[in-house]
Amino acid sequence: MSMRPVGITGIGMAVPERVVTNADLEKMVDTTDEWIRTRTGIRERRISEAHEATSDYAIRAARQAMAMAGVKPEEIDLIIVGTVTPDMPFPSTACLVQDAIGATHAAAFDLGAACPGWIYGVVMAQQTIATGMYNCALVIGAELLSKITDWEDRSTAVLFGDAAGAAVLQPVSEGRGILSSVLGSEGSGAGHLYLEGGGSRHPATAQTVADKLHYIKMNGPEVYKFAVRVMNEATVEVLQKAGLTKDQLDLLVPHQANIRIIEGAMKRLDIGPERVVINLDRYGNTSTASIPLALTEAVSEGRIKDGDNLVLVSFGAGLVWAGVALR
Ligand code: UT7
Repeated sequence: MSMRPVGITGIGMAVPERVVTNADLEKMVDTTDEWIRTRTGIRERRISEAHEATSDYAIRAARQAMAMAGVKPEEIDLIIVGTVTPDMPFPSTACLVQDAIGATHAAAFDLGAACPGWIYGVVMAQQTIATGMYNCALVIGAELLSKITDWEDRSTAVLFGDAAGAAVLQPVSEGRGILSSVLGSEGSGAGHLYLEGGGSRHPATAQTVADKLHYIKMNGPEVYKFAVRVMNEATVEVLQKAGLTKDQLDLLVPHQANIRIIEGAMKRLDIGPERVVINLDRYGNTSTASIPLALTEAVSEGRIKDGDNLVLVSFGAGLVWAGVALR
């Protein structure tokens, strides 16, 4: 079967108005601006309001991406929302987006692959378009991590932020679009990053709430070691699969979790800051929204030229990782 080339034809983002700085966090937990900046590179993050939910931001990001692509809601065949903070366990946040934007002909589902969920979604959507099953997909990464953060736990509270990013995928001309991809998992590391309350193992009870099981738990140093390793390996692998050398990589868009993880990858890959997108200083780690957020900013700052080779690469709970090379 001949496969059609598939690319991103529109991209968009949405973030909360409210900025929470490291100085603000100093008043909430036992931490310092100095520690957060030097250990993570984060200066501030956006935090949503109590009445808001993930779909509110997903919808805004989706509309922006659709406007850039010049796509009407009825043209969308598929909506995938990568998220670990859906509005509710079911129905899917993708269905809420589908209704809000009037994508009356779209299939819709959520995808759970933690932070790389947006890249996983892009690769899944790519397959449906490449085979001719569909012509137009909307892939969203939307996350309100503030809603599952323990604001008394300094080891996680300083890291996360709220945001959404979205992309429209369509057929593109030969030699363009997604050139290669890698998806991977290492479930043996499931115990390093998780939220156990409210699932079938620990259904929500007054006790699970009292025990704070509805908050993110993380073994930071273990995730850190994994991240530095897979960011490098996945980047090398997608470049290789795309038939590109490191020198031909124009822009790396890494998951925005920790500046030291990104710098570790840059060192191993031997690439300088002019070839890497970094915006975690202003948003923190926004999970599935991280990559489309960084990509949207890179596009609007004019950092991407026609014909440039990009690699998007991410890692997260699972443990999982994902990378794509695009032109
Ligand atoms: O999307 C994927 C999600 N996860 C990640 O990407 C996380 C990957 N991991 C990391 O980014 C880093 O491991 C962290 C930023 C989470 C932590 O940095 P670290 O350099 O690995 O620090 P650590 O956990 O080894 O802690 C070092 C010290 C500890 O104190 P002691 O035991 O040395 O006295 C911590 O208690 O720093 C302390 N600490 C803090 N101090 C001030 C931990 N969090 C804080 C804090 N403020 N917020």
